[in-house]
Amino acid sequence: MSFSMDAIAHNTAKTVINLNILRQIEKDLDIDEKISVLFLIIEDYTNAFRDIFDLFQKARTKNSYIIIDYVKKHPENWEDKILEALCILNNQEVIRKLRISFKDLDLQYVPKFRLYSKSINVVAKCLYRLCESLNESEQKLLLNYIKSDNYNYESLLDDTDFLELHMLYWMQIKYITISKDEKHNMEKLLKHLKKFEDLKIISIDLEKFENRLHVVDTHGNFGTNDKNYLHPIFLEQSFHAEKNNKKKIQPINNGLCIIINQIFFRKEYDTRFGSSTDCNNLSETFQAFGFKIEIFENLEKKEMLEKNKNIAKNYGNKYDCLFLCILSHGYRGGVISSDEKEVSLEAIEKAVCCMELKDVIKIVIIQACQGKTRDFISTGRINNCLTTDGLSDSHTLISEDIRQFRKFFIFMSTIQGFVSVRHKDQGSWFIQEVCEILKSYGNQLPFTECVRKVMTSMQNRNGKIEGTQVVQLPEIRNDRLDSDFQLKSIINLHFE
Ligand SMILES: *[C@@H]1O[C@H](CO)[C@@H](O)[C@H](O)[C@H]1NC(C)=O
Ligand SMILES: *[C@@H]1O[C@H](CO)[C@@H](O)[C@H](O)[C@H]1NC(C)=O
Repeated sequence: MSFSMDAIAHNTAKTVINLNILRQIEKDLDIDEKISVLFLIIEDYTNAFRDIFDLFQKARTKNSYIIIDYVKKHPENWEDKILEALCILNNQEVIRKLRISFKDLDLQYVPKFRLYSKSINVVAKCLYRLCESLNESEQKLLLNYIKSDNYNYESLLDDTDFLELHMLYWMQIKYITISKDEKHNMEKLLKHLKKFEDLKIISIDLEKFENRLHVVDTHGNFGTNDKNYLHPIFLEQSFHAEKNNKKKIQPINNGLCIIINQIFFRKEYDTRFGSSTDCNNLSETFQAFGFKIEIFENLEKKEMLEKNKNIAKNYGNKYDCLFLCILSHGYRGGVISSDEKEVSLEAIEKAVCCMELKDVIKIVIIQACQGKTRDFISTGRINNCLTTDGLSDSHTLISEDIRQFRKFFIFMSTIQGFVSVRHKDQGSWFIQEVCEILKSYGNQLPFTECVRKVMTSMQNRNGKIEGTQVVQLPEIRNDRLDSDFQLKSIINLHFE
């Protein structure tokens, strides 16, 4: 039996595991593994301590099936949760006995992503990692710290080493809280964790949950100023996406990718060296996802709008997803055509959002500056590799939010008023990240999660243009996707 990435539904797990199989699995698990599995699959953490502690007592006295007991009482989606828990425990031996490939499961549950989980509570996943990373003496130390905060610490737990059980107790007495509505409180625990040097990463993750930033994967970059880069729009979009995540995720079987690559301009704007690298990378990336690719270069304003308007006419509407990638100079609220005219985002949106394409997911990706950049665009900087995609700030066009146009999404290389950086050989930071992330995760994670990954990894990029330090923050300009979607590799990008 093997998983396929289009079958995201819970049914998949149901075809792999049932109560009889779970009984076999449980025979192979130690008591500490059983406690860990239970800890991970709990539905309501606030009130779980008693039940789990009773099960633990039962398992201690005689060899009983406590996971079975639990899932019988809490049957909702248990199959998926158990498989995800086994993945997180990295119990490959048991998984092998299920006759499914660990790699397939890994793709489905990505247990190594610290801030992602499929069916399991992601904060619980993080707390489990905490338990795993403390050795015996450190666990004792942490427990002592916490007992010193809680006078009447439960005496039942006096001779219990399992930190997960203690954690459930902490939740019961509301020393920490993990709740379903995304409000977590880890403050008191964090205070103590900070005393452990090795737990920095876990502490930062927990802090993120606490601050409701838990959808942001930091990719190993733990600068203290991370939060400064989190634009409010970014956060809002993240939570929005988080909610969407629970909904159905549409698999993309048939896509169209149109790339408008503006390299040469009439006179005032610099030639955009490096843009062809971007264009090739995009083309290669989307080809790998089975998309039909169309590339146009150096379009004038009229041609640009016509091409966008005629997408349905020229290519039909028999695909489920359209990516329109525009690589050019920009101004606040739009991009520049090769005849150096302004093409507003609004005009692009109106052209693309037509009735014929109303059922097609339409994603616009824009690499261009969005603001005051004249200072950077002095000519005669041929030796400087980094440059920007814009000219001046003299025009302000505000793109309207046109509610009736659904399934539309714009992902911009930068927020309004800022520059976009392009390397004259290696292409733009933004497009390079988009390609990189899609190649690595595009067929494993829903699109909006990939978008968030691009946003976070952009934080790691910085460089100097004429002595000025630049960083870049992409943003989601419009998000009217009513559900998330996921790309499908036709060639194996990830495990080659
Ligand atoms: C536990 O970990 C700490 C910190 O890494 C280390 O100093 C200590 O020796 C370890 N103790 C044991 C018993 O391994
Ligand atoms: C883009 O293409 C260049 C040249 O083919 C390659 O070296 C680079 O790794 C590619 N980047 C991405 C993100 O695919």
